[in-house]
Amino acid sequence: MSGPGVTAPARPVDLSVRLGDLELANPVMPASGCFGPELAELVPVHRLGAVVTKTVFAQARPGNRAHRLGESAHGMLNSVGIPSRGVHGFARTDLPAYQRLGAPVIVSVGGLSEGEYWRVTEELAGTEHAAIEVNVSCPNLERGGVTLGSDVGAVRRVVAGVVARTDVPVLVKLSPDLATIDAAARAAQEAGAAAVTVCNSFPGLAVAPETRRATLGNGTGGLSGPAIKPLALRLVWQAAQAVTIPVVGCGGIATAHDVAEFLVAGASAVQIGTATFARPFVMTEIVRELPALAARLGVTRLTDLVGTLSF
Ligand code: FUM
Repeated sequence: MSGPGVTAPARPVDLSVRLGDLELANPVMPASGCFGPELAELVPVHRLGAVVTKTVFAQARPGNRAHRLGESAHGMLNSVGIPSRGVHGFARTDLPAYQRLGAPVIVSVGGLSEGEYWRVTEELAGTEHAAIEVNVSCPNLERGGVTLGSDVGAVRRVVAGVVARTDVPVLVKLSPDLATIDAAARAAQEAGAAAVTVCNSFPGLAVAPETRRATLGNGTGGLSGPAIKPLALRLVWQAAQAVTIPVVGCGGIATAHDVAEFLVAGASAVQIGTATFARPFVMTEIVRELPALAARLGVTRLTDLVGTLSF
């Protein structure tokens, strides 16, 4: 067992978590787009609770023009623009590679219109996957960072249509760019979602004054990493008050202690993104450290931490 001040627990700790009908051995998974099957040669991915795929669209798309990534103080700004082979190419090439990783596969589904989400879901119906995550919150599909997920009515319609077209549990990845994350989380629940993921990256902008241009090719991008952790924690806490379905926390998580913070704030599971770019092993290290941390926090089931925050 590793980690400063962390000792092995005297009794086994139950790390398992349920997201609707989806049972996970532990609460740790990558954020969509941050971890591809190629990393399985380096990282024991089968030890993760689940893997989440890059978002898949109906048609092939190239993604945004360079630059797509930039560093920011304590964070990363990206505008990748969801390159995709399209759902047929994904089902033929990418999905089998994810399946070989040995962890439950959650397929991230995207669209530029409500109907596109439904079409992708229909095309996935004959394939092997444990769950779907509906990505209504990518800030990089249009200039300016506007997402379909900032319209609560659209979230409700998209999710209801996806739920009607699949047998697997549906997670919904919400945008942080909402005055009312609670209304969006409730809309997702009412439309049949099994869980909500809170949250995607925050729309942001990096400027090069020398050229008078934005540094990212698409102009704006999505800010992620430790810089957004307190913001994401608040949104998780707020969403968890609003719904009875589980919340999956995402935003700046880089250590087992960060995971515990999200669980106490109300998350049942977590996604890790930016930290994996610097340290691909970070997720499996966290899974290894969680039992000792849970024991130190006085619980034998990790879920006993969920939503225990008081003021
Ligand atoms: O630009 C991107 O590919 C980001 C996707 C997302 O944040 O969902």
